[in-house]
Amino acid sequence: MNDPLWSRVWHTLQDEGLGSFWLKSLDALGYRRLYLLRRPLAEPILDCPTMLPVAIRWLILEEVQDYLAFRPDASGHDVTQLLLKGDCCLVARHADRIVGAIWGSNARMNTVRSLGRDLPLAPGEFYQFDAYTSPEVRGMGIASALSVAWLRHLRDEACVDALLLTFPWNVAHLRSYAKAGYRVESVVRCVRLGPWRYLLPLQQVAP
Ligand SMILES: CC(C)(COP(=O)(O)OP(=O)(O)OC[C@H]1O[C@@H](n2cnc3c(N)ncnc32)[C@H](O)[C@@H]1OP(=O)(O)O)[C@@H](O)C(=O)NCCC(=O)NCCS
Repeated sequence: MNDPLWSRVWHTLQDEGLGSFWLKSLDALGYRRLYLLRRPLAEPILDCPTMLPVAIRWLILEEVQDYLAFRPDASGHDVTQLLLKGDCCLVARHADRIVGAIWGSNARMNTVRSLGRDLPLAPGEFYQFDAYTSPEVRGMGIASALSVAWLRHLRDEACVDALLLTFPWNVAHLRSYAKAGYRVESVVRCVRLGPWRYLLPLQQVAP
């Protein structure tokens, strides 16, 4: 993120193409588009194998330091507060080190950082956020396997749908969730001007 602007422009064009560059430019100017993905839990939840053996389990308060070793950009205080308020995090461990994580919350209102607004949930809906896999083990199916573990847990808890938001240019995120059965349902659009946020009506995406 500290790279000079010309370097970021060059890498976006080279790695992600003109479409992604255009969307990121609009975003930088204040017009943000996010995809809302939905995964009905009534649909079958198939296994997503990983190319690296991992043990998947819940993050507990005593392991916040392990989480910070995995995500040095995170704040120990924020992670602790999330756990204390009832949000949950499934982590994948390899060689006793956390290599992947996905958070989730069933609070009725969730503040979406990328939107700067609350996302209200209907009964039975569950919101997932902050998926992250260590850069050296990306593309090995870890996020998809974590999604599947989350979905099975939510189905057992009688939830109806899992939801999440992501940027249209985050191909790896979209692909990892597509493998677990999530589909883009709509586009959330927001105009930002300083601290001011204006949400435009949802744009449905044809199935
Ligand atoms: C998004 C993220 C969590 C995915 O984790 P992961 O463990 O690598 O995901 P998976 O291995 O399950 O799936 C990734 C898929 O995307 C594909 N992929 C990755 N980069 C890609 C690209 N640039 N173009 C097309 N596909 C791509 C991989 O090949 C893989 O698909 P495949 O199994 O069909 O080959 C990880 O990339 C990450 O931590 N990114 C940074 C944080 C982030 O953006 N989080 C999401 C927003 S909260």
